[in-house]
Amino acid sequence: MPYLCADPPLTVRDLSGFGARLGGGGVGHQIPGRTVFFNSGRAALWGALRALGVGRGDRVLLPAYLCQSVVSPVLTLGAAADFYPIDRNLGPDLTALEASVGPATRAIVLIHYFGFAGPVRALQRLCERRNVALIEDCAHALFSRHGERLLGSFGAAAIFSPWKSLPLPDGGILAINRPDLEMPELGAAAPWTTTLARLAYRALGTVEMAAGWSPRLALLQRPGLRHDLHDRTSRAAVRVQRGSSVAWRLLGLAQPEGVVARRREHWSRLLEASSNLSWGRPLFGRLPEGVCPLGFPLVVEERDRWRDRLLSIGVNVRTYWEHLPSIVATDRFPDAAWLRDRILVLPVHQGLRSSQVAWLAETLPTLSRRKGHAALAHR
Ligand SMILES: Cc1ncc(COP(=O)(O)O)c(C=O)c1O
Repeated sequence: MPYLCADPPLTVRDLSGFGARLGGGGVGHQIPGRTVFFNSGRAALWGALRALGVGRGDRVLLPAYLCQSVVSPVLTLGAAADFYPIDRNLGPDLTALEASVGPATRAIVLIHYFGFAGPVRALQRLCERRNVALIEDCAHALFSRHGERLLGSFGAAAIFSPWKSLPLPDGGILAINRPDLEMPELGAAAPWTTTLARLAYRALGTVEMAAGWSPRLALLQRPGLRHDLHDRTSRAAVRVQRGSSVAWRLLGLAQPEGVVARRREHWSRLLEASSNLSWGRPLFGRLPEGVCPLGFPLVVEERDRWRDRLLSIGVNVRTYWEHLPSIVATDRFPDAAWLRDRILVLPVHQGLRSSQVAWLAETLPTLSRRKGHAALAHR
């Protein structure tokens, strides 16, 4: 039985040519605007808000379906977070969103979930009309396009979290599109020991895939442990640091076209396999041109049971998000809670071989036969 890790693992091939090229070069034309390289996406979001002059007394509008790392930068700067509804297909409710824009609203954050473009042109127009800055959250959308244009090129600023899509030890990119905005200051990089530990962690995935087993599979099935991890990350303050030079160099060695093609191929294979699943359905029915998918989201009733089921057969699936930030009033945003309880994301990253994805595709329909059966998620 294979082990399929959740993120692309660091391989010897990724490291080959490490000293040969300057960092960032290979992906330069795939990231819009003037860029600043932070250690994480949340630090980059802090940078975007800072560049816009957001601070105490200001308000920022965020989608109700999100994780704590999107909220923390707003609160760290002393601003207040407001929320707008996201429907069960991940679409923002634009009428409610516009109604929530108040005199103190300085920015609206649009998340391009799982690499799929949100309604970015409509948001652009809304932001112009209301004189508010648009920040595109492309943490899931590195290398994704909307039509001919890169995601991240529409807003006043955009942020990326490239370590989610590439085998980097850290990394967060702030892309500034509005010429009048100043680049924010950067802190020092993390100590090299931290970078080394993170590199080792990324490389562990390669060993685990070769071994066909990972201790994570058992650990992730322990809810207490998952809660502890979540509590620790959600309570942590945003650490604003420069990204490591190792991450910058590895970013420069990435092959965007190959990454996009591979992810799209894996995604399409999983769509074929899951169109008639008895225990879940694909969240997106098609893969629009230009999308570089972060993963393959399924809508599943009894999500936690199926997560454990997939972990038990060696598939490191992700839940998005197991918890919403406590500041989101879920009684006001029932669809965000609905998504929180149902989304399961299968890996489609470039580190997976076609044979591994073929195995997953063949296995998915057989899962309900092997153990129990949960009803298909009807809307
Ligand atoms: C939508 C979204 N935005 C921003 C972030 C923050 O990125 P990072 O984890 O690199 O700080 C995340 C992280 O999970 C995310 O999912």
